[in-house]
Amino acid sequence: MTSRGILLAGGSGSRLRPLTTVVSKQLLPIYDKPVIHYPLATLMLGGVRDILVITTPTELPRFRELLGTGEQWGIRLRYAVQPAPAGIAQALLIGEDFLAGGGGTLILGDNIFYGPGLGRQIATRIRENTGATVFLHPVRDPERYGVAELDEAGAIVRIEEKPARPASPLAVTGLYIYDAQVVELAKQLVPSARGELEITDLNNLYLRAGRLRGHVLARGTSWLDTGTPEAMLDAATFVSVIEKRQGLKVSCVEEVAFRLGYIDAAQLARLADGYRGSSYERYLRSLA
Ligand code: G1P
Repeated sequence: MTSRGILLAGGSGSRLRPLTTVVSKQLLPIYDKPVIHYPLATLMLGGVRDILVITTPTELPRFRELLGTGEQWGIRLRYAVQPAPAGIAQALLIGEDFLAGGGGTLILGDNIFYGPGLGRQIATRIRENTGATVFLHPVRDPERYGVAELDEAGAIVRIEEKPARPASPLAVTGLYIYDAQVVELAKQLVPSARGELEITDLNNLYLRAGRLRGHVLARGTSWLDTGTPEAMLDAATFVSVIEKRQGLKVSCVEEVAFRLGYIDAAQLARLADGYRGSSYERYLRSLA
């Protein structure tokens, strides 16, 4: 069975105004590429090649122009709109037809993951998922996120959305794997106090059924979001330091497609042609 993924690039970007007054936050730059390239590369690394991109109605044409059908990267991209920012869990309802009665992997369009063996970690969790799987990572400011409380055996006992007093430093990252029951469960959700279908409520439904697993990302993994101007600057600095030091790009979709064998050297060279005159072009040529 092909592994399906949903890439959510909706939202109003209110914390980034005026940057997002006329542009979706997932189209803004993080150093040398648009924000959305990062989570897209992460899905691809996890072996997910059939992807539904969900955007705002006004920005859909821009995303289509940027990402196309996906064929150029050996993947399949389809598109759907989220009419209003009504919560992350709504993505699964919008994706009901796309999921076609199966499960899928959901990633938030503003989340950046980087680290050794990341693709393998994700692919393994997708293969072994029964119920739902969330990926956890320690942060210094857990109150900004969904926070998981673990028991002594490392099992999740509770997830709380943006708690004033976090029970642990373990944030629930914007990467979720769900089984075939997900749409049925998402339909049971009611809007929270902030008027949204909360992904944390969905995960808690799985938890109460004893069907939620938490996977703490390996210690060497970095997880960044781009939800505020400071977070964007930090992420851009992080990517630029690594790329300058190592001469290797972070979350380069063309490189991921080439290294995973989704495209061959001739296709990679054609993609480089499309970036003529940029350092990005020179990087792609150096790979082939
Ligand atoms: C959302 C989720 C939260 C999760 C975070 C990850 O927060 O509600 O549980 O930890 O994404 O980026 P939001 O971006 O809606 O504030």
